[in-house]
Amino acid sequence: MNIEQTLKNLTTDEKIRLLTGDGAWHTYDCNGKIPKICMTDGPHGLRKVAVEKHGDIENSIPATCFPTACAAASSWNPEVTAAMATAIAQEAKKENVAIVLGPGTNIKRSPLCGRNFEYYSEDPLLAGKLASSFINSMQKEGVGTSLKHFAANSQETRRMTSNSEVDERALREIYLAAFETAVKEANPTTLMCSYNRINGEFASNNKHLLTEILRDDWGYNGAVVSDWGATNDVVKCFKSGLNLEMPDGSGFHTKELKKAYERGEITDAELDKWAGAVLKNFTELAERSDGATLTEVDFKAHNDLARRLEDECAVLLKNDGALPVSKDRDIIIIGELADNMRFQGGGSSHINATFKKNAIESLQDAGYTVIYTKGYSNDTDVTDTALAKEAIDTVLKNYQRNRTTILFFLGLTESYEGEGYDRTDINIPGNQTELLEAISGIVDQKDIAVVSFGGAPMDFSWEDKVSSILHMYLGGQAVGESVADLVSGVANPSGKLAETMPLEIKHTPAHRYFAAPHDDVEYRESIFVGYRYYETYNVPVRYPFGYGLSYTTFAYTDIKAPEVFEGNDIEVQVTVKNTGTVAGAETIQLYILPDKENFLRSAIELKGFKKVFLNPDEEKTVTIPLNARSFSVFDVDKNSFATIAGVYTIAAAASVRDIRLKTQIVVQGDKYFRDERDLFPDYFKPQPDGMDISREQFEALYGRPLTNFRNRRRGDFDLTCALGDVTRKSLFGRIFRLILNIAIGFMFPGKKKTDPSFKMLKMGLEEGNLEGLIANSGGMISKKLCDVLVLNANRHYLKALARFFAKKEA
Ligand code: BGC
Repeated sequence: MNIEQTLKNLTTDEKIRLLTGDGAWHTYDCNGKIPKICMTDGPHGLRKVAVEKHGDIENSIPATCFPTACAAASSWNPEVTAAMATAIAQEAKKENVAIVLGPGTNIKRSPLCGRNFEYYSEDPLLAGKLASSFINSMQKEGVGTSLKHFAANSQETRRMTSNSEVDERALREIYLAAFETAVKEANPTTLMCSYNRINGEFASNNKHLLTEILRDDWGYNGAVVSDWGATNDVVKCFKSGLNLEMPDGSGFHTKELKKAYERGEITDAELDKWAGAVLKNFTELAERSDGATLTEVDFKAHNDLARRLEDECAVLLKNDGALPVSKDRDIIIIGELADNMRFQGGGSSHINATFKKNAIESLQDAGYTVIYTKGYSNDTDVTDTALAKEAIDTVLKNYQRNRTTILFFLGLTESYEGEGYDRTDINIPGNQTELLEAISGIVDQKDIAVVSFGGAPMDFSWEDKVSSILHMYLGGQAVGESVADLVSGVANPSGKLAETMPLEIKHTPAHRYFAAPHDDVEYRESIFVGYRYYETYNVPVRYPFGYGLSYTTFAYTDIKAPEVFEGNDIEVQVTVKNTGTVAGAETIQLYILPDKENFLRSAIELKGFKKVFLNPDEEKTVTIPLNARSFSVFDVDKNSFATIAGVYTIAAAASVRDIRLKTQIVVQGDKYFRDERDLFPDYFKPQPDGMDISREQFEALYGRPLTNFRNRRRGDFDLTCALGDVTRKSLFGRIFRLILNIAIGFMFPGKKKTDPSFKMLKMGLEEGNLEGLIANSGGMISKKLCDVLVLNANRHYLKALARFFAKKEA
C-alpha cells in the first residue's frame, strides 16, 4: 500500500475515525476505502466470538486451548511457546484473524494476582525469552501478535484506575525488562498498553513509557494499541504514542478527537502521522494475511500437541515413590477436579475447547483399573458430608496397602482466580484439605499421590501427608490425557517452577502493598521481586524458583567460562549427564551472584537457561550465552544500563536453591556511585515478612513525591475515577449503582455469583473508571450522566444547602 496516496484519499473525518476500532474486534475500513482487519484473544488459544458483541466472553467458536502461560513457563522451553504459537496462528488464519492478542508477559509481583495464570514468571529473563519465541513463531506464520499488558500491571484490583508507583530501577530491571527482550528479539506487530497508571500517568497516555522508553530507547517500530477501554484523555494518548484505540469507544472518543482537531489542538501533520501509522501497521497486515488464509486445521493434531506440550510443563513437586504408578496397581481417584478439570482461567482468554477428555477416562484408556469418587464439589469450599463420607467409604472398601494408589485431585477452583479480581490468600478450598486429611488418616501415606491445579502459587502445607505431588498448573484442554502420560511414566515430568511457592502469604515481598482498597500501589519492595527477595533476605520458601523433580536424576559435571569479561558476548559451558534409568529432560539454569555490594542488588539473578533431553547415561554439554546486560544494573543517574565491575560467581543450578557448579569471573565495567546503604538502610536489614520500608524511605528511592489518590475528597473527582468511588459519594450515585447492579443480574440470568465472567463484569463496573465506561458501554452510559455523577460526588451538600437558603432569603 502506498500510504501517502491512501492518506490523500481519506477525508479528515475518516482519518480521525481510523484511530479507533470498529466494533469490538476490527479496525475501521474508512467507508470501504481500505481493508479492515480482525484481532482477537489470545494468548493460549483463539477466542473469536461467534457473534460480535461488546463484553461477550462466553460465546466463542471452538478452538484448541493450549497450556496457559503459567504452565507453559514451567517448561522452561521456548520451543513450547513457539509450537503453540504456530498452531494458534493456523487456527487464526482459518478464521481470518490477523492479530492474536498475546502473549502476556507481566511480572508476577504477588501470588495473589488473579491473572497470574496468563503471565509467565516472576523473572524477567525467563518471561522475556518465552514471549519472544511465541511472537517470532506466530509472526513467521504471517499472523500478528500483541504483547501485553504494558506495563506494571501486576494486580487486578482496581486495574482501571490504580497507580503503580515503581522506582525507575525496578521498572527498568524487573517490570519492563521482559517487554524489552521481546521487543528487541521479536518485534511484536503490536504492543498493548495496560489499564493502570504508572507513576501517575495512565499507560495509555504515558509518554515516558510509550515514546521515551519504547520507541526512543528500544527502537520499537510496531503499533501501540490500547487495552480494551484503557484510553483516558484520548488526545493526550495519541500525542504520547498510542496508535490505535480499541474497541470503538462507542463514538465518544472520535467526537473528542474531532473537537480537539477543530480547536486546533491536533494539527493536520499530526493527524496524517497517526492515521499513517494505522495504515502502515494494520492495513498492510490485512493485505499480507489475506493470501495466507487457511481453510482446514487439524484440530485432533492440535489436541495432541497441547497434550505433548503439557507433558513438558507439569512440575513434580514431591516424589517419595508414589509416582509413576505401575500398571499392576489399582487407582482410586478422589476429587471433582479429576472429572470437571480446571485447565484454563476465566476472562478474556477463556477458550471454547475443541476436545476434553478428563483424567478418569484418560487413566482408564491408559490401562488402569480406576474407581472414581467425587469427594467434594468444585462449586463450594464447604465440606459436603455425604460426598466426603462416600469417598472415605470407597477407600475403606477398596484400598489395599501397596497395591492401590490414591490419586487425590485438588487445587484452586474457578471462582478463586480470574481476570478482573485478585485472591486474598494462598489457601485452597477447605473441603479439599479436610478430605485429604481424613484420607491420609486411613491409608498408608506412601500410597497417596496428589495431582494439583491452579494458575498461581497456592498452599501446600499438607504436603507431609502425601508421598507425591504432580502440579499441572492450568494445563490446557489436554490436561487429562497429560495426567495419564505423567502418572503412568509414558512421559517423564520435566517442568520447573517459573515462580516461587511461598510458605505463607505474609512471607511474600509485596504483600503489605498489594491490592489496597485505593489507587496508590506502592512497589516498596523495588527490585526484590520473587526469588530476588527470598534469596537476598534468606526467607524460607515451600518450593524455590526453578525447582522441579524428575523420574530420573542428573549430574552436573563441568562448568567452563572465561576468567575475564571485557564487554564482548561470552559463552558458558556446562556438562550434564542422565544418571538414572529412564529418559528425561533437565533445565540447566545459569545464575550470577555478584560480590557483596554496597548498593541495592539481588544476591542472585537468572541470566540464562537451557533444557536438554537425555537418555539414560547420556551426557551433553550445553552452551549458554552471557553478555554485558547479564552483569548490568539500571543506573538511574545515567538513565541507562551499566555493566558493574567486580568479581562475580557464575552458578549452574537445578534451581535457585540447588547450585551444582560454580566458577568465578572478573567483570570489567563501570563503578556504581549510588551508595544506597546510607540512603536506604532499611533495605539492608532482614525483611522476613515482606519488604517494609517507610514511606519517606520509599519516596527517596522513588525520587519524587508519591501520589495520594487514597485521600480523594469532594472536589477531587473526575472522569478518571472509579465508578464505585464516585457513586459512593452521593445519594444519586448510590441509587445509580444499585440500578446497574440489578441490570447485571438480568444480563446473566441463572449465573452463580462465583462465576468468573459474572465476577469480572461486576468488578469491572465497580472499579472501572468513568471515561472507560462511557467509551465501552455501547452508548448505555453517556458522558452527560457521568458528568452529573462527578458533579454530585464533588458537591459539598451543606455548602450547597447554605447557598440555597441564602439565595432564598435574599
Ligand atoms: C484484557 C485483554 C484482552 C482484551 C480483549 C481486556 O479486558 O485485559 O487482555 O486482550 O480485553 O478481550
